[in-house]
Amino acid sequence: MKDEELIKQALAARKNAYCPYSNFPVGAALLCADGSVYTGVNVENASYGLTMCAERVAMFKAISEGKRDFVKLAVVCDADRCSPCGACRQVIYEHAPEIEILLGNSDGKFERTTIKELLPNAFESRDLK
Ligand code: THU
Repeated sequence: MKDEELIKQALAARKNAYCPYSNFPVGAALLCADGSVYTGVNVENASYGLTMCAERVAMFKAISEGKRDFVKLAVVCDADRCSPCGACRQVIYEHAPEIEILLGNSDGKFERTTIKELLPNAFESRDLK
């Protein structure tokens, strides 16, 4: 799948963001190795700290459907670009340490990076041994 298409799916998902407190809609689209795509949006709460980011919603949806191999993740928002928060970086790394990430905006423009670039020297399962 072309990067532009994955960005398009993240932009379409973004319309379903539930963000009455921040008014900052975020959309994510996760491409799995089998070609399937799982989308996510940010889901806020009146108790602000319970908010879930778009990236984690997409990952958890995919994982809960049995997916384990991930190729690319697109994240879009209305700002110049959307860079995943620290918590999301840790979650993405856990399940997809080799994943490519597209940081996009509502104009459809995006830049490419990787989770290893966003979270170098990550804490991971082998650190628990
Ligand atoms: N947010 C995401 O969903 N993903 C990000 O990468 C950054 C921030 C959400 C959380 C909150 O609903 C809103 O954006 C403002 O922080």
